[in-house]
Amino acid sequence: MKPLILAPLRGFTDVVFRNTFQRHFQGLGEAVAPFITSIKGCRIKPNHLRDLVPAENRALPVIPQVLSNDPDGLICLTHALSELGYGEINWNLGCPYPMVANKMRGSGLLPHPDIIDRMLEKTLHGFSGKLSIKTRLGRFRADEMNDLMPVFNRYPIARLIIHPRTGEQMYAGTVDLMAFQSCLENCSHPVVYNGDINDLSTFQQLEQRFPSVSGWMLGRGLVANPFLAEMIQSRVQNISRRQARFKRFHDDLVDGYQRQFSGPGHVLDRMKGFWRYFASGQPDGAKILKRIRKIGSLDHYLEVVAAVLSVQDR
Ligand SMILES: Cc1cc2nc3c(=O)[nH]c(=O)nc-3n(C[C@H](O)[C@H](O)[C@H](O)COP(=O)(O)O)c2cc1C
Repeated sequence: MKPLILAPLRGFTDVVFRNTFQRHFQGLGEAVAPFITSIKGCRIKPNHLRDLVPAENRALPVIPQVLSNDPDGLICLTHALSELGYGEINWNLGCPYPMVANKMRGSGLLPHPDIIDRMLEKTLHGFSGKLSIKTRLGRFRADEMNDLMPVFNRYPIARLIIHPRTGEQMYAGTVDLMAFQSCLENCSHPVVYNGDINDLSTFQQLEQRFPSVSGWMLGRGLVANPFLAEMIQSRVQNISRRQARFKRFHDDLVDGYQRQFSGPGHVLDRMKGFWRYFASGQPDGAKILKRIRKIGSLDHYLEVVAAVLSVQDR
């Protein structure tokens, strides 16, 4: 079976989440970490590097990700991460948020294959590590890929992770599987599929349709249902003692953030964020989410969630 890869979800899949996930669930082969950037020349924010301290990232092989539109910044980041011991670095060409894309970063670079070409040439020259790319089909239109793929094909890119939407689409509409098929046919590198794998049957349909992909990346669907990778690996729909296992995971996650963050307010904010996804795995999820969003203290949050998650497995 091709590896299942945890997608980078900034604000969610950080080192605390990754390590906690691995203590409670199975099925993932590796993770791409949320992006880091360089500031002013070659400085990297210390809190960005904190997520990638090698000693704390042993539970799951991690591929750091960088966001940059400047060759020197990209070189600086890839070299700094290689020196930390990371064998593969991923370049983010997919981020759709206007604040990023309008500055010609992430998916904002996709309409400029000439710039991508120059950046790849400069970055890969003399770089002994592996560089992979995570991309969308284009920023405005899926056919931007027609000009991008020949550029990607010219360089020794370790793998291309494709989320088959445009940047402008953000997360709306459906993934464009015809366009993904065409990428798969035209790409000379291993291709990883990413997008909307939210349940076992969607995965099975994609697996049947695209047997030549080299891996599958799971994002929101896995955070919403942390059992998903196990379900895919074992091809079972039903997980026993689901609620009890989820509760242990949840409580361990809270402990992890209590150790990581300075103050209960930050822990509360982070956990409330998670419920945007967790709620969909709960009976009455919309009601629970509404209730959790109004909570003002971590103690109250813990009380409410304990009650919600005490619903016994049937
Ligand atoms: C909250 C959030 C944060 C994200 N952060 C990143 C990121 O740091 N780097 C990246 O390449 N993609 C990022 N993505 C995109 C995901 O990695 C993934 O490509 C996208 O969610 C589609 O996959 P999914 O349908 O399995 O979630 C983010 C998406 C979301 C919703």
